Formats: sequence, C-alpha cells, structure tokens
Amino acid sequence: MAVDFSVKPILTGDKVRLRPFAAGDFPAIRAALLDPEVVRLTGSRPVTWDRETEERTRDWYDTRGAQDDRLDLAVEDRATGGWAGEVVLNQFDPDNSSCNFRVMFGPGGRDRGLGTEAVRLTVGYGFARLGLHRIALEVYDFNPRARRVYEKAGFVAEGVLRDALRTPEGWVDATVMAILADDWRALPEERRARLG
Ligand SMILES: CC(C)(COP(=O)(O)OP(=O)(O)OC[C@H]1O[C@@H](n2cnc3c(N)ncnc32)[C@H](O)[C@@H]1OP(=O)(O)O)[C@@H](O)C(=O)NCCC(=O)NCCS
Repeated sequence: MAVDFSVKPILTGDKVRLRPFAAGDFPAIRAALLDPEVVRLTGSRPVTWDRETEERTRDWYDTRGAQDDRLDLAVEDRATGGWAGEVVLNQFDPDNSSCNFRVMFGPGGRDRGLGTEAVRLTVGYGFARLGLHRIALEVYDFNPRARRVYEKAGFVAEGVLRDALRTPEGWVDATVMAILADDWRALPEERRARLG
C-alpha cells in the first residue's frame, strides 16, 4: 500500500474529532505551547514568546495541511468544539514504512480520556489507512501518564535511552516504545479505535 500523507482525514471518536488545523485554533495552541507542564513533559526548553516566535509558529500551523510526508492533526474536544491538543505522525521512513508519533494536549484537555482516544485513532489510521508497519516514540520516565496511554493503545517498551534529557533536577531516561501493524491487528477490539 502506498503511504499517502497528502490526505488529511477527519477521524471522529466518542470524545474527540481529529481534523486539520484551523485559523481559530491558534490562541489555544499558543497557550498549550507556553504551558509549563507541556514544556516539561515534552522535554522542551521554555520559550520566550516574541513576535518572531509568534510568526514562525503561526506559519508552522498554517502549513501543516500542505505537508505530504507527515500528518499533523488538531484534536478537537467534541464537548466544546475547541482545540484541545494535537497528534503527529512524522519522520516517515519510506524504506521501512515507519513513523515517529507525538501527542500534546493543552491544560484544559488532559485527564479526561481525550488523549487515549486520540492516540488510538491516530495509530489506527496509521496502520489501517496509511499502511504503516511500525510507529515508534520516546517517552521520558517522569511521564507515567503518557506511558500508560501509549501502553493502552498497544505500544510496547523496547529499550531505555539512558540520561537522554538534562533537567534542573538531574538526568532523565527516555523509553523507546513502538507498535507494529501486527501488534495492532492482534489488539482486542476495545483497544482499537473505530475509524468510522
Ligand atoms: C500524555 C497525554 C497525551 C495523555 O492524554 P490524557 O487525555 O491526559 O490521558 P487520558 O485521560 O486519556 O488517560 C490517562 C491515563 O493515565 C493514567 N494516569 C494519569 N496519571 C498517571 C500517573 N501519574 N501514573 C500512571 N498513570 C497515570 C490515568 O489513570 C489514565 O489511565 P486509565 O484510563 O487506565 O485510568 C496528555 O496528558 C498530554 O498531552 N500531556 C502533556 C504533554 C505530554 O506529556 N505529551 C507526551 C509526551 S511523550
């Protein structure tokens, strides 16, 4: 199956709708990128949000729909219709049919099951529609919530990157996790998203 990232799907679950970014999402995206918990848990450096950062970031989100080698989708909270977070399949390796996965929710979107559903929908799309063979990610050891969500979606821990991140509190390991197409097909139905 040819992997076609030029199609930007709408994936609807019970709690979330994954869809291309819209202009009105930007205030919520900005708030999420500046949220100290997002900065910490994604291993980012705190940002000084000046005019240049604003323009670069707006341009980044404005151009996500035109990318043909990756998939970036907004996660809309169906209860409010507002932007809650984002999911990304990037670093596509065509020779090996593999991608990296990222997910990030803003302050209002967490701990309500939205992430669990968004991860499952993206993984399901990656295997069932894009025909990927492997989806991998890295999660820092100070982020057991993310690890739990990935495990629920079928990701398996493969190894530890020791001292992958330096923080003011000390060095932090990262765990490499991945799910293969066969792992996903073997999951019980309740752990796979229905793509509709
Ligand atoms: C990680 C993230 C996507 C998870 O999405 P979410 O909507 O908050 O998570 P959910 O509510 O769907 O599920 C959280 C699960 O983790 C569990 N959990 C929460 N805190 C936990 C902790 N400290 N230790 C272990 N499990 C925990 C919850 O009980 C739940 O599991 P359950 O359904 O079995 O009860 C979201 O919190 C987020 O974007 N965080 C900030 C950025 C980030 O961490 N990105 C990932 C970088 S690798």
